[in-house]
Amino acid sequence: MTKLRAAITAVGHHVPEKVMTNVELEKLVDTNDEWIRTRTGISERRILEHGATSDLAVPAVQMLLKNRGITADEIDAIIFATVTPDMFFPATACVLQQKIGAKKAFGFDISAACSGFVYAISVGTQLVETGAYKKVLVVGADKMSSILDYTDRNTCILFGDGAGAVLLEPITDGVHGVIDHKLYSDGSGGDFLYMKGGGSLNPPSHETIEKKLHYIFQDGKSVFKVAVMGMADVSAEILQRNNLTGADVDWLVPHQANLRIIDATADRMGLDKSKVMININKYGNTTAATIPLCLSEWWHEGKVKKGQNLILASFGAGYTWGAVYVKWAY
Ligand code: COA
Repeated sequence: MTKLRAAITAVGHHVPEKVMTNVELEKLVDTNDEWIRTRTGISERRILEHGATSDLAVPAVQMLLKNRGITADEIDAIIFATVTPDMFFPATACVLQQKIGAKKAFGFDISAACSGFVYAISVGTQLVETGAYKKVLVVGADKMSSILDYTDRNTCILFGDGAGAVLLEPITDGVHGVIDHKLYSDGSGGDFLYMKGGGSLNPPSHETIEKKLHYIFQDGKSVFKVAVMGMADVSAEILQRNNLTGADVDWLVPHQANLRIIDATADRMGLDKSKVMININKYGNTTAATIPLCLSEWWHEGKVKKGQNLILASFGAGYTWGAVYVKWAY
């Protein structure tokens, strides 16, 4: 019997209108456009001025539904990857369900930081592969500007706001769909990239605000070293597990944290730069949104085609990292 797989059958994305350039950041912190571009690859990022993470996701999902020609009430499940949920609870998946009118869907959030989308697509794939659910919406969205300290040059230059979404549906042609996925975590990484305030460890108080515990902290240099290794290793592993070489890959879809990490991953896979999706220059690091934002932009430009081999790869806080091998289905 042919294996039941999950295929990506539609994509959508959204970024807010307001652009924040490197030059604007020069007015806020001791930095400069040249440093940011050469050290990270980022020229500008988008900022959501009003609203929450779910408001970034709604237009992304509406684009996806239009592309697929279905209505929200046909969705069975919503998996929402984010580290900037609208609230601790209810889940942003439930907020989104209500906003788009996905009446029969159940939903939950996944917290895996920059690997959130890769984690969510792995989970969503398995919901479809059981045969229990036919239309699983996987969203990656973050309003990173809501947890950034715009006096900390180590972090505020890196991140932006955005959303992307894919629809997973069953496919039985034995060829296309999500072919393989591999996830990793290493909790010892928790010392290097975190936001310590607001949870049960440090409930919000005057003190947590004074100590700036409600902002992202990152030891960039330490994270950089393991991110390069983690993303390159897992990408190489997924190629090897599937008897692929760089020559078989049509697109690497890497998490967009730093252009130098992306370049190192592509080199390790033996990939030409022309096969790597890169939009970090326009959006910075949008955390859970980077990969679906790339997928949707490239698909809308007609550059993703049926039968192509895509490797999605990420590294993020936790540490968390992973890769997904997709044979594009439409
Ligand atoms: N503008 C100007 N100078 C800056 C700066 C900024 N925005 N941020 C840091 N610097 C300075 C540092 O203070 C340091 O100065 P010093 O040598 O006098 O101490 C110098 O630039 C080099 O800093 P360093 O931290 O070594 O830079 P880097 O090359 O490691 O780049 C990051 C910093 C954050 C861009 C990089 O480490 C990175 O991308 N880390 C990983 C991010 C990531 O993958 N996260 C996981 C997913 S979210």
